[in-house]
Amino acid sequence: MNAFPHLFSPLQIRGKRLKNRIMSSGHDTSMPTDNLVNAPLIAYHRARAEGGAGLIVLQVAGVHDSARYTSHVLMATDDACIEGYRRLAEVCHAQGALVLSQVFHPGREIMESADGLLAVAYSASAAPNERFRVMPRALEQAMIDEIVAGYASAARRLHRAGLDGVEVVASHGYLPAQFLNPRLNRREDAYNGDLEARLRFLREVLGAIRAATGNDFIVGLRISADERDPEGLTEDESLHAVQALQGELDYVHIVAGTSASLGGAVHIAPPMAVGAAYLAPTAALFKARLAIPLFVTGRINQPQEAEQIVAQGQADVCGMTRALICDPEMPNKAGAGRSDDVRACIACNQACIGHFHRGYPISCIQHPETGRELLYGHAATPRPRKRVLVAGGGPAGMKAAAVAAQRGHDVTLCEASAQLGGQIQLAQLLPRRSEFGGASTNLQREMERAGVQVRRHTRVDRALVERERPDLVIVATGAEPYWPPFERAGTLQVVDAWQVLRGEAQVGRSVLVVDWRCDWIGPGIAERLTRDGHRAQLAVNGTHCGENLPLYVRDHMVGELHRLGIAITPYARLYGCDDSTVYMQHTASGEPLIFEDIDTLVLCQGHQSVDSLAGELEGLVAYQRIGDCLAPRTAEEAIYEGLKAAWAI
Ligand SMILES: Cc1cc2nc3c(=O)[nH]c(=O)nc-3n(C[C@H](O)[C@H](O)[C@H](O)COP(=O)(O)O)c2cc1C
Ligand code: SF4
Repeated sequence: MNAFPHLFSPLQIRGKRLKNRIMSSGHDTSMPTDNLVNAPLIAYHRARAEGGAGLIVLQVAGVHDSARYTSHVLMATDDACIEGYRRLAEVCHAQGALVLSQVFHPGREIMESADGLLAVAYSASAAPNERFRVMPRALEQAMIDEIVAGYASAARRLHRAGLDGVEVVASHGYLPAQFLNPRLNRREDAYNGDLEARLRFLREVLGAIRAATGNDFIVGLRISADERDPEGLTEDESLHAVQALQGELDYVHIVAGTSASLGGAVHIAPPMAVGAAYLAPTAALFKARLAIPLFVTGRINQPQEAEQIVAQGQADVCGMTRALICDPEMPNKAGAGRSDDVRACIACNQACIGHFHRGYPISCIQHPETGRELLYGHAATPRPRKRVLVAGGGPAGMKAAAVAAQRGHDVTLCEASAQLGGQIQLAQLLPRRSEFGGASTNLQREMERAGVQVRRHTRVDRALVERERPDLVIVATGAEPYWPPFERAGTLQVVDAWQVLRGEAQVGRSVLVVDWRCDWIGPGIAERLTRDGHRAQLAVNGTHCGENLPLYVRDHMVGELHRLGIAITPYARLYGCDDSTVYMQHTASGEPLIFEDIDTLVLCQGHQSVDSLAGELEGLVAYQRIGDCLAPRTAEEAIYEGLKAAWAI
């Protein structure tokens, strides 16, 4: 008997059969070229359909020329889009998945433009956006009519392409929400007034879509149940809106947050600090008041969580978007009673939405095959079996070992210490980052299933390699903290981040954390020490704290530091220290920055490679360095290099 009977029960929507309750919700992959569906995007979704997702909602499709919120957005404004969508729908249908597309107008939420110039943005009213600092133009009637017609013709094209329906994006503060929101809609015409007037735009859109398509076409609505922003839609407002609209909809899909502010945007892809399935109670509230199916998305990571939501009647369908980005096979594994093999997403946001914000195609730090399906998506090619020795049980070494063994090689991994995981073991000790440890657990499971022999307490050296005689050594020996040269006089205690995390340092009361990497290590140490009763402040080398982090991780973290009253000094370069003073230099002005009455200076100054093994192996055996031992970076590069090294054997 299936462990997830509710999750794997079918659902009928407008005569179409959803084979299970697992949805890949609309997410921008940054994969399209020329704003059209292309082969990499088709391969990406094929992998999720093959993996068993019941419903695939494709990323936003712009419905009007003014809807280009990024340079790589998909557009459904021309018949040229139909062929790509048709091929995409065919490959997903062949796997039994239903396929919808989001239809989208961002209104004032314009992030960037194709030519680098600021676009003219349009909204219900000239109410500025805080996050992108956009002052939109209020839409005139003729343009409202054009946009409504744009929704209809986009839906007509998607219908012709064979999709099963569309999802109107009224979530996250986009154009329909800008009309609906009484604090943003300041119009003095028929589109403002009571709820019905503020819903007029959406009613016109839904009516036009239905008229342009047909009775077999699903039309759903995505809305933020609560935009989690002082200016945003409240739970009551969203609930009343969908109650009023439900007669024109096949389902309602709730999320949280808004694109309009830093705090609200955190909920677009909530980081690991946000609890699993955190919107389930809100979903239950909406479901109880609606007569049509209710979908919910937000940190539903594991089939167990989704099963509970459906079983308890909190929602009918669960968006498990990053869960599927991280493990496209998750539904099939869960259905086959192999949920222990699911590679659970850790909500780090690094390679999925982190890539989106930097304009790069989607991937996953744990599963770099994501977004690279055309390269790594097919079954491993059988090769002559080789004996591979992997030195180092951090993320790079574990990924290389797992994939090399999956590809049929005879693989042994040696780890000098008792524990696998490398720096993941330290990362998981930082506040609200314990889930990061899942990356190590997942890789260990993958090695185990692939049949890698693991030897702990075993340091690889020349003598060991001479005894074992492998065909190839993969050197993944990682890195150690970097201590930059700086003027040091007097008795001030100086320690590094690793010593603090490992509990090897008796840190004093007044602490200065100096952060060169501008990631989560420096802020995490400052937060942890503050919570432990120290008076910690943070000096960061970049323009702001967390400059190198995915935006929503950064903003959630900065919010916590602010709540704790931790002072942050940006543009700070370490210069020297004496008994109780740390001297820094402003990186732009060169002027001194002086921190007095400091007991402990904590260095978060990055890492340096540990690669002496490579020198020992010279002339003895073929070897390849990967990950931090090649050059200190992040877990993403380490795991990707593990994958590439294993495919190269
Ligand atoms: C890379 C990425 C891009 C996204 N782009 C969109 C988008 O275009 N439209 C949208 O409505 N939501 C978008 N989202 C939000 C997702 O649909 C989903 O709500 C979010 O990932 C939270 O769900 P999860 O915890 O299951 O991943 C995006 C999320 C990610 C990770
Ligand atoms: S990059 Fe991180 S958040 Fe994104 S899917 Fe992978 S594990 Fe999840």
